[in-house]
Amino acid sequence: MASDLTAEVQQTPTGMRVIGAEKLDYRFHYVSPVFDVSHAKLAETYKPWKRVLIVIDQNVAGIYKETIDKYFSHYSIPVAWKIIKGGEINKNMDTFNEIVDFMDAEGLIRKEPVLVVGGGLVTDVAGYACASYRRSSNFIRVPTTLIGLIDASVSIKVGLNHKKLKNRLGAYHAPQDTYLDFSFLKTLPIGQVRNGTAELIKISTCADKRVWDLLVKHGKDLVENAYGHKEGAEHLLGPAEEIEKRGIDVMLKLETPNLHELGLDRVIAFGHSWSPTLELTPKVPLRHGHAINIDMAYSITLGHKRGMLSDAQRDEYFNLVTSIGLSIDHECFDEDLIIVATQAIKKTRDGKQRFVVPEGEFGKCTFLNDVSDEELKETLKIHKEFVKKQYPGYEGKEAYVDAGDLGEDVNSYLAQKNGNGAAESQKKVNGQGVKQAAIAAGAIPVNGKVTDSESGAIKVAA
Ligand SMILES: NC(=O)c1ccc[n+]([C@@H]2O[C@H](COP(=O)([O-])OP(=O)(O)OC[C@H]3O[C@@H](n4cnc5c(N)ncnc54)[C@H](O)[C@@H]3O)[C@@H](O)[C@H]2O)c1
Ligand SMILES: [Zn+2]
Repeated sequence: MASDLTAEVQQTPTGMRVIGAEKLDYRFHYVSPVFDVSHAKLAETYKPWKRVLIVIDQNVAGIYKETIDKYFSHYSIPVAWKIIKGGEINKNMDTFNEIVDFMDAEGLIRKEPVLVVGGGLVTDVAGYACASYRRSSNFIRVPTTLIGLIDASVSIKVGLNHKKLKNRLGAYHAPQDTYLDFSFLKTLPIGQVRNGTAELIKISTCADKRVWDLLVKHGKDLVENAYGHKEGAEHLLGPAEEIEKRGIDVMLKLETPNLHELGLDRVIAFGHSWSPTLELTPKVPLRHGHAINIDMAYSITLGHKRGMLSDAQRDEYFNLVTSIGLSIDHECFDEDLIIVATQAIKKTRDGKQRFVVPEGEFGKCTFLNDVSDEELKETLKIHKEFVKKQYPGYEGKEAYVDAGDLGEDVNSYLAQKNGNGAAESQKKVNGQGVKQAAIAAGAIPVNGKVTDSESGAIKVAA
């Protein structure tokens, strides 16, 4: 098992006290391609069970099911499939129940690990089903998106959305093993690759100068060539591997002392202060990577304004992210949003701002707690002027969620949400938009009833 819990009972003057600790033991394996018959490691795990139960994302199954079938049949291991629909609107109890029904129908044996294959969405929902099934079941993850590989599958958080509220239900549940195979990026749409790259930029800006420098040098090519997995781009595999492995290593080292996220000064919260609200504010939600990049770019402007970063450092940041096609500003990113989002995020940070800003050089950062509303507004003005002057007309590429992210066609999503099918403007519906977004992001409590009448109205920050 990936975790084991032991405790002892002590007598106290008034009763008893139970005191114990949970032992965690979970592994990461770099194996590529993981479903190549020459790599027996995964198959060997399933040999004792004489079968494998697979929960997989529908799109991923469309591309890889045959390969996976071949792999297990080579080792004479029968497969039972549960193919689930991806998309944020399917990150719900119905999908959870489908997975539980599958485990029941197949008679999952205690300790038998379910194999979960897909992006962060599937590994989150299936991981939560495993956390709950018979109070705790084993699973093994094979992430297939860049977000999955360097973020979702590095953490032990699993969960799903409740009505309009993002990741409201969940657990900390470590898988037994995670297989990291970046060759899946070959088939991942470029918009998703760009999206995941924002998280690597986040980690490197604040915690790893070497990864930062490699991204400055190769970032654009890496995104355009699936981190070296497109044909003819093999020369990128070396730097890509260094970025991937160091990125995961840094992420693990930063987060493992704080697996339950009780410590609130979190380096990996860079880019995640205003973005949870921003991500949800436009009619069609922004992709997570674009929202966090606007937040990071604004934080760079703040750091530069305070003299913590030089002109050259600020320019290096903006040049990298624009070469990749990430957003650096948005019409919804206005004074209202900054103030509401600041109040909202403070509620999740014990009343403090804890704004992460790189300091002195990339790879290092500090936490700010003394930024007044006036300074936030002034910084916004400077930010918008700088963007307008240096990058006139620039817009992030494929900045909004698509059918793959949502789980349904964007126009029918809009039609249900707003009563009209046209994707006219991306601007917020009205002044309430910002507040509703902050609520859905989980940053401020719900005031009144949460309904799911606006189907699919969620797609928020991780
Ligand atoms: N647990 C955590 O700590 C954590 C961290 C970050 C994100 N998340 C969660 O992860 C989810 C987002 O995950 P994601 O960004 O991986 O998106 P995703 O799982 O929704 O996948 C994005 C799209 O890519 C497709 N896809 C996946 N792999 C593919 C491949 N190899 N080739 C072609 N298409 C492929 C999917 O079908 C989907 O359409 C969110 O729900 C977020 O809350 C969780
Ligand atoms: Zn994130």
